[in-house]
Amino acid sequence: MLQRILSLEEYRTAYKNSLEHSEHFWADVADNFLWKKKWDKVFSGGFEKADYKWYEGGKLNITENCIDRHLKLRGNKTAIIWEPNNPTEKNRIISYNELHAEVCRLSNALEKLGVQKGDTVCIYMPMIPELTYAMLACARIGAIHSIVFGGFSAQSIADRIQDAECKWMITADGCYRGEKQLHLKKIVDEALENCPSIQKSIVFNRSDFPVSMKDGRDVWAYELLKDCSTEHVSKEMDAEDPLFILYTSGSTGKPKGVLHTTAGYMVFAAYTFLNVFQYKPEQIYWCTADIGWITGHSYIVYGPLLNGATTTMYEGVPQFPDWGRWWNVIDKYKVNIFYTAPTAIRSLEAQGLKYLEGKNLSSLRVLGSVGEPINEEAWEWYNKNIGKGKCPIVDTWWQTETGGILISPLAGITPLKPSYATLPLPGVEPILVDANGIEIQELIAEGNLCIRKSWPGQARTVYKDHERFIQTYFKTYPGKYFTGDGCRRDENGFYRITGRTDDVIKVSGHRIGTAEVENAINEDPSVVESAVVGYSHEIKGQAIMAFVILKSEAALKIKLNSESEFLIQKEIAGTVSRIIGPIAKPEKIFFVSGLPKTRSGKIMRRILRKIAEEEFDKVGDISTLLNPEVVEEIKNLVSK
Ligand code: PRX
Repeated sequence: MLQRILSLEEYRTAYKNSLEHSEHFWADVADNFLWKKKWDKVFSGGFEKADYKWYEGGKLNITENCIDRHLKLRGNKTAIIWEPNNPTEKNRIISYNELHAEVCRLSNALEKLGVQKGDTVCIYMPMIPELTYAMLACARIGAIHSIVFGGFSAQSIADRIQDAECKWMITADGCYRGEKQLHLKKIVDEALENCPSIQKSIVFNRSDFPVSMKDGRDVWAYELLKDCSTEHVSKEMDAEDPLFILYTSGSTGKPKGVLHTTAGYMVFAAYTFLNVFQYKPEQIYWCTADIGWITGHSYIVYGPLLNGATTTMYEGVPQFPDWGRWWNVIDKYKVNIFYTAPTAIRSLEAQGLKYLEGKNLSSLRVLGSVGEPINEEAWEWYNKNIGKGKCPIVDTWWQTETGGILISPLAGITPLKPSYATLPLPGVEPILVDANGIEIQELIAEGNLCIRKSWPGQARTVYKDHERFIQTYFKTYPGKYFTGDGCRRDENGFYRITGRTDDVIKVSGHRIGTAEVENAINEDPSVVESAVVGYSHEIKGQAIMAFVILKSEAALKIKLNSESEFLIQKEIAGTVSRIIGPIAKPEKIFFVSGLPKTRSGKIMRRILRKIAEEEFDKVGDISTLLNPEVVEEIKNLVSK
């Protein structure tokens, strides 16, 4: 098994070694896995053409490393604890033996259906163990999973299916989230109307909602699984064979299908999980993310299972049946490592301490944070009230594209500083560059965060659009990977991520592109044009503010009847929800007569961002705008 870094001194040695003898370092880490054949070359390629490869020539199957290798010593150990939405429903405890049987059964079923190595499979599932089986079964037979978060709309699913040319769909009839019932199958049916590439849709049964099954396309999973064996010989995969696609938002255009490959991702997810959380055998680990996001991929499923850990999956929401639910879950399973997002921490903090009463959190050893900057106040609250001052908080910085954590404290090993992600993991070399792309040599500095050299978990491409991949990540600062984040470095060399420097917004930790939201708003029949920016929000970190120019009929309606304003705002929010999903709904919508534009017609979002933050004195020079007069109008609207 992998070895943990056990002291600050070891961290320093490992870090130095990882930079000086990078290939040696990563070969040593990779040596701890099951390979059907060892690699010929640890690393090749570079950033210029983004043609880097890790462990080339190696042959393996990631699910053998996640499951099979543990069976002999830990077959009866719990792999997954599943906690249902409703606390009165029975939970499920799944051992490594059971996980093996279920994944094998589904692998056989998928193969029986005709799913082949290299096929893309769209998965739209609730947080139930079958979601894990589905992704692992894909990986076992060499199919590429593309998981779509359960909060996305039919159109978002269809866009992703079309882009990845998925042949297969795996879903469920429905699910429960808090008081809500979500009819997933209905949403998928709507999506599949525009997805002729889908040959079969496999439906797991989670709810008692009535569903209609389309002849020749839809199959119940239980029917398919009935006669399938619980043994399966995994496919031999090349190290660089694709493992999964995960769509994520960027500054421009539609979400990108970020592609991760097998061996590098595996090595990196396992290595980072073990070291950051300092996971010890027999500990109970819980990450509250949804598997539909990268955090769920790497740190609910792959990272923990690769280490033979017990990972917890919770189906519901933090406030159901009340805001004490998470503390109950920690108490119930004696969770040792707890990993969540700053938005959740702030929401829980806002409830006061009454929900903590009577909850025994003494099992906790390590706390984690991910997805957005954590403010000092939330950090202190988490530390004092949840960790009782005894649990290190690992503020883990990373991205969908990085596959795993790049900058973070190692729990109990390296020092902490509130709101700082602190130090890079061994093998990761962050640098700060100024606006001209010149590397900032001073220790204390602020700039754009780049990474100097590849690491095994790095995304390999944007699915079917390598040029976009190169343009997005490697062209802004040639020779470096550009993260899109702004960052500060202190006198100790600790890094503090200050947030995105591009048109990406992190709403409650969810990544949303302004262009996507604008495109959705512009589809509304009342709208001529729109501009969207992020602004600071007390709980969500950031929220979405939209400035919208209405068609004359809609504008007239508002003039005649002020109530129409609210109705049209609602309608636009509904349009965004229908096209993207509820997570992308603007928090505030202002109707304006114009948008600040340059003479060449470019919307000046920089100005709108300052106005949205009510930093009116920082709007800067507007004299060169095409329409400087709208700035005053917009300021007045926002400050009302
Ligand atoms: O802006 C950074 C922020 O989340 C972005 C990546 O988003 P996504 O691909 O959805 O992955 C989220 C889960 C890894 C980053 O560019 N971010 C992530 N973690 C942190 C963070 N910002 C500050 N501190 C963090 N710990």
